[in-house]
Amino acid sequence: MANDTVKRTLTVAFLLCIVCSVLVSTAAVKLKPLQEKNKALSTKRNILQAAGLLEEGKDIDQMFSKIQIKIVDLASGEFDENIDTAKYDQKAAAKDPALSIRIPGDKDIAKIKRRAKKVPVYLVQEDGKLQTIILPIHGKGLWSTMYAFLALEGDANTVKGYTFYDHGETPGLGGEVDNPLWKQQWVGKKLFDKDWRLAVKVLKGRVNLKKPEAIHQADGLSGATLTGVGVDNLMQYWLSENGFGKFLIRIRNSGGGNG
Ligand SMILES: Cc1cc2nc3c(=O)[nH]c(=O)nc-3n(C[C@H](O)[C@H](O)[C@H](O)COP(=O)(O)O)c2cc1C
Repeated sequence: MANDTVKRTLTVAFLLCIVCSVLVSTAAVKLKPLQEKNKALSTKRNILQAAGLLEEGKDIDQMFSKIQIKIVDLASGEFDENIDTAKYDQKAAAKDPALSIRIPGDKDIAKIKRRAKKVPVYLVQEDGKLQTIILPIHGKGLWSTMYAFLALEGDANTVKGYTFYDHGETPGLGGEVDNPLWKQQWVGKKLFDKDWRLAVKVLKGRVNLKKPEAIHQADGLSGATLTGVGVDNLMQYWLSENGFGKFLIRIRNSGGGNG
């Protein structure tokens, strides 16, 4: 019974706390590289999926070796070859006043407030010809900022694939941006018209496939018009001259056609 003193109980509790906190901190430090590796693999997986290059069961790094990462200066549309693509973090850059711009309210249609000045793009070339351009784009839905990869053909106009990989919209409503059927409808859509004006539009309701403008239009999300509006808004921003516009013009002028 002599062991049941308050002092002893507190000492045991204290030592237990110390041991547990050492264990938790060691696990956090040891697991960090693994978490970062998994995060990088997940990003690569999403890019491959958007590009239509993902084959289940195959090694992600091996499949990703086809993809070239370049950093684009959005103000000029030119590549910046001086940045280490492996280390560049677009989200961190967007928070750094030196590496980002504040988007004026009237131009902030994606409702993201700031964006990085320089943004990675992912390219697939075959026999010296640009086959696929994958653009990271994001913007506000109803509840959350939605992050996506939009893959285009080498003409910088035709959609090859679209993957929303991070959002907090309601499952079954706005969360249907993840639905493979909804994503599939984008394949083959043209973002720009024959005069290279941005023409893409997410409708409220369904696209009338008989109308010529259907080639630029996507169905809205049933019961989730506001998330659909968010998708439309983020595309209007990132594909405009305030986003990837200058880069896309440069690609087009260097050989892509309005097919
Ligand atoms: C709990 C709850 C969650 C909702 N989540 C979403 C959502 O993720 N995206 C969305 O656009 N609308 C969502 N809505 C519905 C919106 O409030 C709004 O009614 C809807 O976007 C209008 O679209 P509709 O005209 O297609 O019905 C949600 C509503 C409720 C009650």
